[in-house]
Amino acid sequence: MSRKAIQLLKVHKIEIPPDKSISHRAVILASIAKGTTRIKNLLMADDIRGTIEAFKGMGVSIGVKCKVSPYHRGTGQAGVKGDAMVHGVGMRGLREPRKALYLGNSGTTMRILPGILAGQDFEVALTGDASLSKRPMERIAKPLAQMGAKIVASRGTPPLKIKGGKLKAIKYRSKIASAQVKSCILLAGLYAKGVTSVSEPTRSRDHSERMIRLFGVRCKVKGVRCELKGPARLKSPGTIVIPGDISSAAFFIVAGCILPKTKIILKNIGLNPTRTGVIDILKRMGADISVKCQVSSVKEFEPAGDIIVRSSKLKGITISPKEVVAAIDEIPIIMLAACFAKGTTTIRGIGELRVKETDRVRSMVTNLRKIGAQIEVKGEGLRVKKGGRGLRGAQVSSYGDHRTAMSMLIANLAIKGKIKVTGLSCINKSFPGFLKLLNKLN
Ligand code: S3P
Repeated sequence: MSRKAIQLLKVHKIEIPPDKSISHRAVILASIAKGTTRIKNLLMADDIRGTIEAFKGMGVSIGVKCKVSPYHRGTGQAGVKGDAMVHGVGMRGLREPRKALYLGNSGTTMRILPGILAGQDFEVALTGDASLSKRPMERIAKPLAQMGAKIVASRGTPPLKIKGGKLKAIKYRSKIASAQVKSCILLAGLYAKGVTSVSEPTRSRDHSERMIRLFGVRCKVKGVRCELKGPARLKSPGTIVIPGDISSAAFFIVAGCILPKTKIILKNIGLNPTRTGVIDILKRMGADISVKCQVSSVKEFEPAGDIIVRSSKLKGITISPKEVVAAIDEIPIIMLAACFAKGTTTIRGIGELRVKETDRVRSMVTNLRKIGAQIEVKGEGLRVKKGGRGLRGAQVSSYGDHRTAMSMLIANLAIKGKIKVTGLSCINKSFPGFLKLLNKLN
């Protein structure tokens, strides 16, 4: 590249917050393990605060020191990441909470925590905000009931009431590929006598399996099936270091692709193969992305590395239902990428997007159509047509969903007109300080 071209290139280093899924699991498992766990680089976003408060409410002592990175200073956030000490109470050490545990907007906590509560001999009520109170819970209530827990979810949604008891191991075939369902059953399996196994149509993210092993319990995986033997006891591994969240990085990966003369460097991002679908999909679309994976010194833990992305000429492709599973949270930002890709992009198997924090098919299609995109929705698939042209400014809504909000804010950077996005506080669910980082790209 000539000197002049290099001078024109805008290079940005963006610090991505820690992984939300791994942060939840680290707090959950450390709480019921024997011994103290230090969790370094724990995400301090609204959802994780909900998980921490739930365990504090059941008698676990958790101390967190928040750190605000230089990029996030002045965002008004108490902290984006923290260093936590979790004093585990052991498998049977949780105490009955004095009141219902309020989990805010966190679907992951609402679906994973019951796995542990099913093994306790007290009753707990779990509540959430208006959006969480509409999300389907039969998917976990059914297997937990089969294992012997008493679980009430009137209308199949939160609030949930769980009375744990003596659990029996089950072999469960989940109809949906869901890490939340799988994790819930595996955690209940820790309390059940015998081998509990879960199989799913396509393998979903495997953070729970890895974390269970890190806490000293065997968890075998064979294709789409995983199993463990209970009753089991978790033991603290000492220290856990959480990598950056690839789902949060995805917004800047796409920004790097669609902004002209741009290079974005993202360091220490989680590269678990069950999560890197977004990179594979974007590369197939023609994205200029390079990945340097570091070798982890901790066996069984999460792979991580650096991602470098440069302005790219994207083209339309067909994305299969299997690919969607490995990029389930990135489909909104991939839909935006499709609007900048030449030709037609088809995405199949998007049914699960309808039951996220909002119906993401509806929120994204409505917003993208408002800014001039041509999108057809048919059954469980959608098609973005004539990408790469005619996008314009408009007023759109987050629909209370963090990933819809962030996708539309990235769109605003890349088009000529102005996109005004209303309802931005939901971003704090996973990515406090996002707006400040966005300013760096302006
Ligand atoms: C998550 C699993 C996914 C994902 C969610 C986090 C997890 O949900 O969408 O944001 O941490 O297990 P499903 O398991 O419902 O697909």
